[in-house]
Amino acid sequence: MTDELPDELRAFVAEQRDGEVDRGLRTLPASELGEGDVVVRVECSSVNYKDALATIPKGQVARISPLVPGIDLAGTVIEGAGDFAEGASVLAHGYDIGVAHHGGYAEYARVPAEWVVALPEGLSARQAMAIGTAGFTAALSVARLERHGLSPERGPVLVTGATGGVGSTAVSILAARGYEVMASSGKDSRAYLESLGAADVFGREDVAGDGKPLGKQRWAAAVDSVGGATLAGLLGQIRYGGAVAASGLTAGIEVKATVIPFILRSVALLGVDSGQCPMD
Ligand SMILES: NC(=O)c1ccc[n+]([C@@H]2O[C@H](COP(=O)([O-])OP(=O)(O)OC[C@H]3O[C@@H](n4cnc5c(N)ncnc54)[C@H](OP(=O)(O)O)[C@@H]3O)[C@@H](O)[C@H]2O)c1
Repeated sequence: MTDELPDELRAFVAEQRDGEVDRGLRTLPASELGEGDVVVRVECSSVNYKDALATIPKGQVARISPLVPGIDLAGTVIEGAGDFAEGASVLAHGYDIGVAHHGGYAEYARVPAEWVVALPEGLSARQAMAIGTAGFTAALSVARLERHGLSPERGPVLVTGATGGVGSTAVSILAARGYEVMASSGKDSRAYLESLGAADVFGREDVAGDGKPLGKQRWAAAVDSVGGATLAGLLGQIRYGGAVAASGLTAGIEVKATVIPFILRSVALLGVDSGQCPMD
């Protein structure tokens, strides 16, 4: 590949047409890459739940059409601006990337300098994207819980959707930080989750609760990327003063819960967003 932006580039494009979405590899004029002062030769991007939503008819994520999906990307700057000189290794994720601005599933991306982060020394583009937005979200979830007071001696921490991107990275991070990690999964995945550091593995129905506002106090905290009835059910199983870091909706967006765990057990529900996360 050259170090200059060519007139045309290859990209995976999703285009909405009459309620359907055409998807596939296309040649895109570089002039259509969108606004921005930094051009990155993309080496890697990751595949996230949101990327799938951006490419299906009722996903409600894509805000432009045609769209190059890919909510994160890492590579080398070929046209620099601000703190990012030509040749710098960088990543960019969140903001409008892959939803309202062409994203990582292309040979090149043009993005505003405010969306760009320098890759730390020792972290390759590939490693950064293996962690990806999902891994970053898992880290934000753990950080939020610890800021709320969580520490390993408080007791077991539940991770729902544990085989997913957010879930699996949360299991790894928590285990590495000395927590007793309880993983919940709808898959037959015990060996995999134990290899990541889970102390025990439960089925989805085992952590769903029994529909009552308060249940047995099982978990000191939970990292939940599943939402829906799962989130509603686990609130009543959090120990006194504990918290749930909620980032996702794979089980649905509606959470039919009561206030009882909040007002009788001082449980906290902490929202986690990676998209507009402040740079610092
Ligand atoms: N807030 C943010 O900034 C942010 C950032 C990244 C992701 N997210 C959200 O977090 C969620 C997970 O993202 P991801 O990248 O980890 O996705 P993913 O890799 O596709 O994993 C999702 C996991 O959810 C579980 N799951 C799927 N369908 C389910 C259902 N009907 N009921 C219960 N569990 C179900 C599965 O785990 P098991 O089979 O192991 O149960 C699956 O592996 C998504 O909703 C995504 O949009 C939010």
